Amino acid sequence: MYILLRYIALGLASILYVGAQRSAPRVLIYSATAAYRHDSIPTAIRVLKENGASINTTFDATEDRTFFTDSNLKSYDAIVFLSNTGEVLDDYGKAALENYFNSGGNFVGIHSASDSLRNTTFFVRQLGAKFDYHPELQEATVDVIAPSHPSTNTLPQAWKVRDEMYNFESDPRSLGAVVVLSADESSYTDTRERKFDQGTPHPLAWYQEHAAGVDARSGTAGRSFYTSLGHLNETWEDSVFLGHVLGGISWALQSNTTRAFNSSGLVGNAGSSSANGGESGTTPGSSSNP
Ligand SMILES: *[C@@H]1O[C@H](CO)[C@@H](O)[C@H](O)[C@H]1NC(C)=O
Ligand SMILES: *[C@@H]1O[C@H](CO)[C@@H](O)[C@H](O)[C@H]1NC(C)=O
Ligand SMILES: *[C@@H]1O[C@H](CO)[C@@H](O)[C@H](O)[C@H]1NC(C)=O
Ligand SMILES: *[C@@H]1O[C@H](CO)[C@@H](O)[C@H](O)[C@H]1NC(C)=O
Ligand SMILES: *[C@@H]1O[C@H](CO)[C@@H](O)[C@H](O)[C@H]1NC(C)=O
Repeated sequence: MYILLRYIALGLASILYVGAQRSAPRVLIYSATAAYRHDSIPTAIRVLKENGASINTTFDATEDRTFFTDSNLKSYDAIVFLSNTGEVLDDYGKAALENYFNSGGNFVGIHSASDSLRNTTFFVRQLGAKFDYHPELQEATVDVIAPSHPSTNTLPQAWKVRDEMYNFESDPRSLGAVVVLSADESSYTDTRERKFDQGTPHPLAWYQEHAAGVDARSGTAGRSFYTSLGHLNETWEDSVFLGHVLGGISWALQSNTTRAFNSSGLVGNAGSSSANGGESGTTPGSSSNP
């Protein structure tokens, strides 16, 4: 009887433990490109690594597509696709990424990530929409339409940026995404004719509570956050923009579906130490398969 009670108590304790952080989240940045390459990628990686401690998170970075195996991905609480373009994973890598998402893994996409893996349905759904085109880089006003979200709660209501105002091939809201930033189309020039309906107001950044790349019946859906901003070095050096991105990443981690926050999570950092430690495993650069 005592033993039984003890088991019940332990079970309850582990349920209650969900939500409390067990180990510092570990996040993988993937910035491989197969088409256009943004020269702001190294700046973005450096700035994210330098500021990881502000969200209690360790960032690893890789451009090695062979790093995408089940065993390597499973120690991450989120995977960030940073300014990728084109076909940046082979079928093995895509299968590992899909398993990761189905296991509760969280996703963050930044800038041209929406112009990568365009034919991979689960990836496009996980991100929310495919990039269509953008007018010339110019100054524009971005409207905060969900001001209480962690990715926007430090932004001015009408945020002046110098960036590319992306257009998309579909409306991410059709997958259940909540748009947090929209483009004020009167604030910049776009003369091209649009072929697709991306919905109104014009989406620029959004989140999905249960990412649509996962079949919720067969998998555990983590969270997804996407922002189309982030073209220039100057953008990455701007603390206002950085607050937007770090807020989005830290919100995605709070899905509580990965090990940093969930003792029964299937993926995530299982280590018990803080931002520099965690479970040792293969780190990017040292893998050589498949
Ligand atoms: C995750 O846990 C935190 C802390 O307990 C809680 O505030 C948050 O609502 C949880 N998130 C989800 C999606 O359940
Ligand atoms: C942006 O920064 C990178 C280094 O992080 C540098 O190589 C590149 O030349 C910079 N681009 C411009 C346009 O200054
Ligand atoms: C993606 O699909 C389009 C249309 O079917 C095709 O033209 C293109 O070659 C495909 N790209 C890749 C990388 O598979
Ligand atoms: C914790 O992880 C397990 C295994 O993926 C999942 O079934 C459960 O829903 C997660 N808990 C929360 C609060 O998301
Ligand atoms: C950071 O992570 C450690 C575990 O590694 C945890 O003890 C600590 O509470 C976390 N700090 C914050 C601010 O979440």
